Amino acid sequence: MAEPLRIALAGLGTVGVGVIRLLETNRDVVERRAGRAIQVVAVNARDRGKDRGIDLARYSWVDDMQAMAERADVDVVVELVGGADGPALSLARAALDAGKGLVTANKAMVAHHGMELAELAAIKGAPFAFEAAVAGGIPVVKGLREGTAANELTRIYGILNGTCNYILSEMERTGADFGAMLTAAQDKGYAEADPSFDIEGVDAAHKLAILAAIGFGTRIDFEAVRTTGITEVRATDIAQADALGYVVRLVGVATLSKGDDGSAQLLQRVQPCLVPFRHPLGAVTGPTNAVVAEGDFAGRLLFQGAGAGDRPTASAVVADLIDIARGQAGAPFSVPVGQLEACKAGDPGERVGRDYIRFTVADRPGVLAEITAAMRDAGVSIESLIQRGRDHEGGEVQVAMVTHEGPERSVTQALTLLEGSPSLTAPPLVMPILRD
Ligand SMILES: NC(=O)c1ccc[n+]([C@@H]2O[C@H](COP(=O)([O-])OP(=O)(O)OC[C@H]3O[C@@H](n4cnc5c(N)ncnc54)[C@H](OP(=O)(O)O)[C@@H]3O)[C@@H](O)[C@H]2O)c1
Repeated sequence: MAEPLRIALAGLGTVGVGVIRLLETNRDVVERRAGRAIQVVAVNARDRGKDRGIDLARYSWVDDMQAMAERADVDVVVELVGGADGPALSLARAALDAGKGLVTANKAMVAHHGMELAELAAIKGAPFAFEAAVAGGIPVVKGLREGTAANELTRIYGILNGTCNYILSEMERTGADFGAMLTAAQDKGYAEADPSFDIEGVDAAHKLAILAAIGFGTRIDFEAVRTTGITEVRATDIAQADALGYVVRLVGVATLSKGDDGSAQLLQRVQPCLVPFRHPLGAVTGPTNAVVAEGDFAGRLLFQGAGAGDRPTASAVVADLIDIARGQAGAPFSVPVGQLEACKAGDPGERVGRDYIRFTVADRPGVLAEITAAMRDAGVSIESLIQRGRDHEGGEVQVAMVTHEGPERSVTQALTLLEGSPSLTAPPLVMPILRD
């Protein structure tokens, strides 16, 4: 049997402890698949005295996490600390700089610094892998990098945040509003005490930016992801969507197209969308993640599973380690980093599709006429218009509109015409309707 692959593990939280447990529980299976043992030679976290529910006595604790990168007895540094910058990034840079392999679950760091780290890895000839950074236990990074490698991918999209999916599907199941279901998600441990990265769509945007780079062979452009979270989705929107045959889901969508000048344009968006009941994403409930990739030869592929949690995420981390142990790490973003294409950000106005728009308006005569006139003037064709929620004379009502297929630019123009109108008592909410 070959020499063991020696790893240093930084971060012993949910994922770090999960990795130790997996390596202990599945030692034989991992060794057989890897062709050699995977041996933890150093561990580190902030608080040495913390009870982590595992026996750490058998592992060598190091006080200085950054020193792991320098150790001669370490082949791969596993970064499970988190945070786009700070100690995680310093460690990642130091590890690759020293020619060590780097495995991470840190989507924020990969979304922000993945290009720099991949360049460093290429220069040093060091493996760099991050399966666990996107959709936890789902092997979607490998699926896109290897399984769809022979395809021209046209669209990659999916449910990339389990917290949001839990909240939205529970709003649907219970009829409750966003605030109550956010509290329920926190009680169940699906949402952090500070849930802003999840509910504002930032976490999903990190993952989408990484997936787009892998699937399309383009440079990561996280800053170009247009992100809207789920905080404005109300119980009435969910009920209205249901009546029309849809569920509401936070969906990240990346599309690569050619602009008028022939240049590649990458449109990346995360926003709540209406998903048809019959669409595979329509059946994804709870904290599950799902990614759809559309290839010119493979057709529509669905990757689905647990998007977070100690065990699924550990499964993805150790899968990367097994690849490295076998010498099969490959280019982290599917093609060598120097060949990744730099794209312009696509124009969302050019999207052609149907939209759901919810207006919150003053309950008085003429308001509907004002809205429909703005739609007409902007060239938006209305498929249906439903007024709901009149509780008292002169109060507020919800008007839900579904448009016929048309350019998104026209909807934006109509809403600009309505801006500042005293009839609108809150900003409208626009949710694209996902194509079948
Ligand atoms: N949790 C999931 O389901 C999941 C899924 C996919 C990806 N991820 C990613 O995996 C990474 C780890 O997530 P997690 O949920 O395991 O986080 P976590 O439970 O908060 O654990 C973080 C660990 O890092 C240690 N740490 C934090 N700051 C440190 C510092 N300055 N120096 C040394 N150690 C430090 C902590 O030490 P102490 O324990 O001593 O405080 C803790 O052990 C993140 O990038 C996250 O985005 C997580």
